[in-house]
Amino acid sequence: MDNIKLPQHLAIIMDGNGRWAKKRGLPRSTGHKEGVKAVKRVISNCIDLNIPILTLFAFSTENWERPKNEVLNLIKLFGKVLDREKANLIKNNIRINFIGRLNELPNLLTKKMNELIELTRNNNKLILNIAINYGGRAEIVDAINSIILDLYDKKIKIEDINENTVRNNLYTHGLPDPDLLIRTGGEMRISNFMIWQIAYAEFWVSPVFWPDFDKNNLIEAIKDFQKRVRKYGGKG
Ligand code: IPE
Ligand code: IPE
Ligand code: MG
Repeated sequence: MDNIKLPQHLAIIMDGNGRWAKKRGLPRSTGHKEGVKAVKRVISNCIDLNIPILTLFAFSTENWERPKNEVLNLIKLFGKVLDREKANLIKNNIRINFIGRLNELPNLLTKKMNELIELTRNNNKLILNIAINYGGRAEIVDAINSIILDLYDKKIKIEDINENTVRNNLYTHGLPDPDLLIRTGGEMRISNFMIWQIAYAEFWVSPVFWPDFDKNNLIEAIKDFQKRVRKYGGKG
């Protein structure tokens, strides 16, 4: 693996927890619990490999449609993991951030999230973005609404609206777009993830279910990424 040509922003659609569990005759909740272990693993692998920004898709705006007990179980699990990992985030110099419709989440959870954002604000080894209650379409709607508010408040003029205006109103403002997008679990779809930001990301689909995704699988994706010729619509 080339240690120079690394992705600067890796985004991952962590899929396959349910199928991982089903294959073993275990409840889906066990799959999600194992998925948390894989989250810890990928964070430490990104630090080892010097990848500076990692965005993980944890819960989508559409995932509320799942059975009530699975949704409740996931929300409870997030809270538990945030409590448990506080010290590790600080120790490992990780700056955590969350993207999504955070105001629709239970107050107890957003309180924990805000506390972690504050506590890790000055850390600089890894920027860890967790997408929770996140939807790409919702993000664009929210960006449109905040641009309209700026228009009403006369902070901007209609003729000034361009791609940068949109970019600066997304949840990811200030961050470069992902250059590598990995989806585990084999499905070849985007499922409403970062639809603006991945316009020119390189895509890697791994058949491995998320709880099994390990360092070798990650390196395999990065190696393939390093072979790609990125053309951005130009002559190449
Ligand atoms: C991804 O695994 C985790 C979340 C969406 C929260 P899934 O729960 O979607 O697992 P599969 O796709 O059913 O295997
Ligand atoms: C995408 O996985 C969302 C997350 C990984 C959080 P889903 O399992 O929700 O996607 P679909 O339903 O297969 O498109
Ligand atoms: Mg899934």
